[in-house]
Amino acid sequence: MLTVNSIAGLREQIHVWRLSGDTIAFVPTMGNLHAGHVHLVKEARRQADRVVVSIFVNPLQFGPGEDFAAYPRTRDEDAGRLRAAGADLLFMPEASAMYPLDATAMSVVEVPGLSDDLCGRFRPGHFRGVATVVLKLFNQVQPDIAVFGEKDYQQLVIIRRMVNDLDLPVRILSVPTVRETNGLAMSSRNAYLTEAERVKAALLHAELELALKELSQGRRDFSTMEIEHATALESAGFQVDYFAIRRQQDLRQPDAHELQLVILVAARLGRARLIDNLKVSLAA
Ligand code: PAJ
Repeated sequence: MLTVNSIAGLREQIHVWRLSGDTIAFVPTMGNLHAGHVHLVKEARRQADRVVVSIFVNPLQFGPGEDFAAYPRTRDEDAGRLRAAGADLLFMPEASAMYPLDATAMSVVEVPGLSDDLCGRFRPGHFRGVATVVLKLFNQVQPDIAVFGEKDYQQLVIIRRMVNDLDLPVRILSVPTVRETNGLAMSSRNAYLTEAERVKAALLHAELELALKELSQGRRDFSTMEIEHATALESAGFQVDYFAIRRQQDLRQPDAHELQLVILVAARLGRARLIDNLKVSLAA
C-alpha cells in the first residue's frame, strides 16, 4: 500500500492507474478506523481495480466547541488495518494543503435545506464542511465509485444530493451500519465512552428497534412516537438532540402512507455525541 501526503503525488499515481485502464473506488474517512470503516474498504475492493482511502480530520466540519482537537488520531494502526483490508493507496493530506486560504475566503459547497435539519440544527455549518471536503476529495481522487456508511445517514443523503445537483461523475455506494454485539453502532467517538456508558449506549439501538416494531405493527402517529422514544432515552440518562421518523429518500416529514421510512436518533451520553438510525421498509 502506498502512502501519499501531497495532492500532486496523489494525482501522479491516479494518472498512472488511469493510463493502464484501472477503475478506482474511494473511501473517505477521518481515521481511527474500526470494523465499520474496514467493511467500506472491503466493499470498495470488490467494486474496482484500485482502492484509495483518505484519512483527514476535517477542521471545516467541526464547530467551535466541538471535539476537533480531541478526535482520536491513530495513524499507524489505521495504516495496518488498511493494508490488511486490501487498500492500494492511503491519502493523508495536510490541513495546510487542503485549506491554504482562510475559511472565510474560500469557496464552499452548500446543500441547503437538508443541511439545516436534524444534526444540522445542532451542528451549524457541519454539513457545509462535509460537502466541501468531500467535493475536494472527489476532485483530487476522481474516483468511479465512492463508498459511504449508512451509519451517517443524513451525510449520505446530502452527498447523494450534491452529486446529483452538480453532475459529479461518481457513483455513490452505501454500506449498512456495522455494530458491536450489543447493537451499538461502531464509531470513532465510542472511544469517549466509559465502560458503563458503552453498555448503556446499546439502548439507543434498542429504542430504534422498538420504534421499528411499532411502525411494522401499523402505528403512524409519528410525532407522538418521536416524543415517547426521546423521553424514554432521556429517562435512561441520555440528552437527546432528536428522535425523528422521516422519509428514507429525502429525510422529509412522511405522511401516513409513506412506506420507505428511516428512524434517526442523536443523543449525548457522557462526553460522546452518538448518532444512529434504522431503515424501515413497510409492506404496501
Ligand atoms: P468517518 O466518521 O471517519 O466515517 C467514514 C465513513 O465510514 C463514513 O462513510 C461513515 O458513514 C462510515 N462509517 C462510520 N461508522 C460506520 C459503521 N459503524 N458502519 C458502517 N460505516 C460506518 O464520515 C466521515 O468520517 C466524514 O464526515 C467524511 C465523510 C470523511 C468527511 O470528512
